[in-house]
Amino acid sequence: MNQRLTIALTKGRILKETLPLLASAGIAPVDDIDSSRKLVFETTHPAVRLVIIRGSDVPTYVRHGAADMGVVGKDILLEHGAEGLYEPLDLGIARCRLMTAGPVGWRSTGARIRVATKFVNIARRHFAGRGVHADVIKLYGAMELAPIMNLADLIVDIVDTGNTLRANGMEPLEEIASISSRLVVNKAAMRSRHAIIQRVIDDLAAAVPQA
Ligand code: PRP
Repeated sequence: MNQRLTIALTKGRILKETLPLLASAGIAPVDDIDSSRKLVFETTHPAVRLVIIRGSDVPTYVRHGAADMGVVGKDILLEHGAEGLYEPLDLGIARCRLMTAGPVGWRSTGARIRVATKFVNIARRHFAGRGVHADVIKLYGAMELAPIMNLADLIVDIVDTGNTLRANGMEPLEEIASISSRLVVNKAAMRSRHAIIQRVIDDLAAAVPQA
């Protein structure tokens, strides 16, 4: 059996903050990920390789066992579900908040509201939980534009500094969830490769910044 471990990482800010944690666990890519078009990277740890993919694809790779472990934002796990995955560690990185937001001074006039978001499942659950009729409109980015163009009343989006909201005349309204990156592990791999996986979990846990 192939005993090598494959870890799926999310591109962008999460990757930048994940690499120092992995380095503390003795896992560093041998090529510069930023300047390469490759998707698979060997590491300084002979038994570990990395694959670099979109965040929303990480749970899919790990669930199917195409990767043994992954690092992914809690927002993705809440939106797409964590079925078939263990989530043993909060890495405490890429912290932000998932929020509803609206134009400054916006007040609900009752009836139905239109909500633009890429987190359609989260948004539906959130408003249903409040007994609010929400027509959820799926977008793939630039959610802040939707109220400006009267496509929607509110948005559900990630808020970090709040600068994007402010720059577009919007304000945060309600926090839905506190977000950070999580380590996820394929359930079957957790049993069949327990020793090496537990070692990586322990090393990462030791490197995680304390909240
Ligand atoms: C996210 C989010 C907001 C922005 C919030 O977008 O969708 O637009 O960051 O950050 P702020 O509160 O610090 O302004 P991101 O840049 O990650 O791109 P995305 O469109 O791929 O989500």
